Amino acid sequence: MGKDVIIACDFSSAKETFAFLDKFENEKPFVKIGMELFYAEGPSIVRDIKARGHKIFLDLKLHDIPNTVKKAMKVLSGLDVDMTNLHAAGTKAMMEAALEGLTRPDGSRPLLIAVTQLTSTSEERMKEELLIDSPMDVTVMHYAKNAADAGLDGVVCSPLEAEKVHKTCGDSFITVTPGVRFADGDIGDQVRVMTPAQARKIGSDYIVVGRPITAAPDPVSAYRRCVAEFVD
Ligand code: C5P
Repeated sequence: MGKDVIIACDFSSAKETFAFLDKFENEKPFVKIGMELFYAEGPSIVRDIKARGHKIFLDLKLHDIPNTVKKAMKVLSGLDVDMTNLHAAGTKAMMEAALEGLTRPDGSRPLLIAVTQLTSTSEERMKEELLIDSPMDVTVMHYAKNAADAGLDGVVCSPLEAEKVHKTCGDSFITVTPGVRFADGDIGDQVRVMTPAQARKIGSDYIVVGRPITAAPDPVSAYRRCVAEFVD
């Protein structure tokens, strides 16, 4: 499976997104489209970015009853995205239904990745609001195992969890890791971060990088630096 750098295109409009992508003349980076951009622009944003030759991780984090998720995944699969995701908390039945919906008549399908526990959820909130008594790392690994059992391809996780996820679910189970910063860069609002080189060392399969590239004075060089540290 290909290690790659995925650029988080956290822009609010197609105009801003294309102005950013226009800077890349020689490369076609793998891009992540999140809820903000998708809800603002609709499916046409996916088709337009795809038509420019980019791979797309559509980050919509589905979570609903199995039948609804299955039908929604069928629509996303028709949009020809390369990777999409859902919440593992939706249960194995939901994840299995999602895979079914995502699989095209010819048997091909986008990669399907699970969100375990959002990094914005603390252990304290889990205990008090969600009545989940297990420690965070136990819960995250349990959700990852459920995702693997349901046949999913991997999870979104902190680079610090990637090694343990591979130990629990196998080396071919994909880890997609945000929270990446250059050694000499701004951390911003991220708390637990790793450099692209460190993420490579601990076995992340894909890194998701937003502001270190999108807010850089020269985004193309920042992207190349990520690729050089993580992939080459
Ligand atoms: O700008 P930055 O590199 O922090 O962007 C990281 C991207 O990864 C954002 O799109 C953010 O929503 C996403 N993400 C994250 N932490 C998670 C899950 C997703 O930063 N646990």
